[in-house]
Amino acid sequence: MIQILILTIFHFSPSSSAANKVYNVMSFGAKPDSETDCANAFLSAWGAACSTRQPATIYVPPGRYLLGNIRFDGASCKNNATTIRIDGTLVAPLNYNVIGDTDSWVKFESVTGVSIYGGALDGRGNGLWACKNSGKTCPQGATSLLFHNSKKIMVNGLTSTNSQMFHILLDGCHDVEFVNMKISAPGNSPNTDGIHVQQSSGVTIANSHIGTGDDCISIGPGNSNVWIDSLACGPGHGISIGSLGWDMEEAGVENVTVKTVTLTGTENGLRVKTWARPSNGFVRNVLFQHIVMVNVQNPIIIDQNYCPNDHNCPHQSSGVKISDVTYRDIHGTSATEVAIKFGCSKTYPCKGITLDQINLSHGDKTALASCTNALGTATGVVRPTSCF
Ligand SMILES: *[C@@H]1O[C@H](CO)[C@@H](O)[C@H](O)[C@H]1NC(C)=O
Ligand SMILES: *[C@@H]1O[C@H](CO)[C@@H](O)[C@H](O)[C@H]1NC(C)=O
Repeated sequence: MIQILILTIFHFSPSSSAANKVYNVMSFGAKPDSETDCANAFLSAWGAACSTRQPATIYVPPGRYLLGNIRFDGASCKNNATTIRIDGTLVAPLNYNVIGDTDSWVKFESVTGVSIYGGALDGRGNGLWACKNSGKTCPQGATSLLFHNSKKIMVNGLTSTNSQMFHILLDGCHDVEFVNMKISAPGNSPNTDGIHVQQSSGVTIANSHIGTGDDCISIGPGNSNVWIDSLACGPGHGISIGSLGWDMEEAGVENVTVKTVTLTGTENGLRVKTWARPSNGFVRNVLFQHIVMVNVQNPIIIDQNYCPNDHNCPHQSSGVKISDVTYRDIHGTSATEVAIKFGCSKTYPCKGITLDQINLSHGDKTALASCTNALGTATGVVRPTSCF
């Protein structure tokens, strides 16, 4: 018995002492002076963490670390548990052209089991927004943080400010949690969406505050099992499922829950938006529950007639089939008279829309609901009076 126990301890002790080895970016040459590009130091720390077989931690001490484009590739990592603990701020180059024509500034590609705790990303997007607003030809802008083709991701307590384009983009990811996020950019900054999710499943976004110049959260094609809970959104364009239905062959959106959200001064509240084009996409099983609207321009909206400047889609109707969307316990104020607007596809009317316990007012006036090609039911008190 005793021998076995000793052997067991002996057998496990070397690996447990190696477990969670900490790789401090400073020991790889990072200089938190906002001027020295630290990408190589960060990548060396990543390489070291990645090549251990035990869980590893990369540590970023307080300070401001300048980084150009950086790609953390996980395809050849030997462990599935890398923690990145950040007490500092990662700073994008002041000259927006350095990263402005790339898809992303900080990118995780094909990683499994990466957890990021704390930290801040400063995208320094102001220069690029000014360029865009002046009408000059400018780079499109980089997403601040991109996860591509990855799984088992946790981001807890990250702050992202002033991204050039989107703050965070999830593309082709599974089993992802974002909690305690703070994402901010001015309300008039172009295309600075908070978190955009596409082709992903098992995504949770909770306990977060997002205020930007575009959607707080947008859910693009090919997403399922998305859970959004305890969120403050505003300024911005609200929470959006869409735009969908640009492509004919397009994966649908399924099983989305959005609950306990306050939207303040946003352009939209809860929006589903599709292009007025043929598509075999769909949206089904969506629940919006316990939502507070504070002076929101379009609190509840389905818009299947999206065709800006009548370009690429004139006189067409959306092929995206929308069904089983429930709005439950939603109250507050609409900044416009029409608080509920269902503008569905002529070819594929929305089906199974439920309004339950809705109380939206427009100042002292009664708000209105408007339905086009929408089929559904209203239960409990519903103000404005439902249009089904
Ligand atoms: C719907 O998504 C939630 C997570 O948001 C998940 O727990 C649940 O199992 C999913 N339901 C189905 C039927 O897949
Ligand atoms: C609806 O909201 C208004 C304004 O907040 C409030 O006065 C009213 O009592 C509410 N009605 C119901 C049925 O909850």
